[in-house]
Amino acid sequence: MTEIIIVKSQEEAGEIYARCTADLIRRKPDCVLGLATGSSPLAAYKALADLVHKEGIDVSQVRGFALDEYAGLDPAHPQSYRSTIDRTVVEPLGLDPAKVRVPNGNLDTIKDAGRVYDQAIEDAGGVDLQILGIGTDGHIGFNEPGSSLASGTRIKTLTEQTRIDNARFFDNDMDQVPTHCITQGIGTILKARQLVLLAFGAGKAEAVAESVEGGISSFCPASALQMHPHATVIVDEAAASRLRNRDYYKWAYANKPDWQSI
Ligand code: GLP
Repeated sequence: MTEIIIVKSQEEAGEIYARCTADLIRRKPDCVLGLATGSSPLAAYKALADLVHKEGIDVSQVRGFALDEYAGLDPAHPQSYRSTIDRTVVEPLGLDPAKVRVPNGNLDTIKDAGRVYDQAIEDAGGVDLQILGIGTDGHIGFNEPGSSLASGTRIKTLTEQTRIDNARFFDNDMDQVPTHCITQGIGTILKARQLVLLAFGAGKAEAVAESVEGGISSFCPASALQMHPHATVIVDEAAASRLRNRDYYKWAYANKPDWQSI
């Protein structure tokens, strides 16, 4: 099953991700990191950057693929996911920007961009560790409810709820919020060798409970994690508040023997 870790703070979640990712980079210096935008992974990126600098870990060969990008938004726009990934991951970690790709939202080429992106991931040998946030409606990447669980990278129409959630990045002006995006599909995400989903705050509690303890359904895209052999969900108390089995998850993690590695 998916491992559920209930933490006290985003910083504690960040430490867990950072330790796991640093071990991966040491083991495999040219590993492929799956990167996500949003506020949920920020503490994790910060913890990883701190660890990389403190322990002098060589990241010069690390490669990365972002989950998604707005369609038709200039990559130089401060809220494009290209800019966001550069600002929050590439620069603080000191990654080689040429080794980190973001789906191409240019409207002139977007029809083929999904196929090209999936091929690039495959050519890189696949994603080793994919970090994920979750939308209030259970979306991962920009796979809105109803997305095929087998989908590849493709164009999607954003829901009204996602556009409202993201309006804060566009001066709270809905007219500026893009209506379409290009996102890794759920099938693409499931191909990553390891998944770590982070969710914090009461606003995510229902989506987390439905994803982890509900049925697998395209109506809750994150529920697809139940089909992944190596997925970890790290949540704070507020995001865990609707989980029926939370005492069991806490006990299992607190008493996890060394020999129970996943
Ligand atoms: C956007 C991104 C998702 C992210 C979600 C939640 O929709 N495309 O990848 O998980 O926002 O963002 P936050 O972590 O800020 O709540």
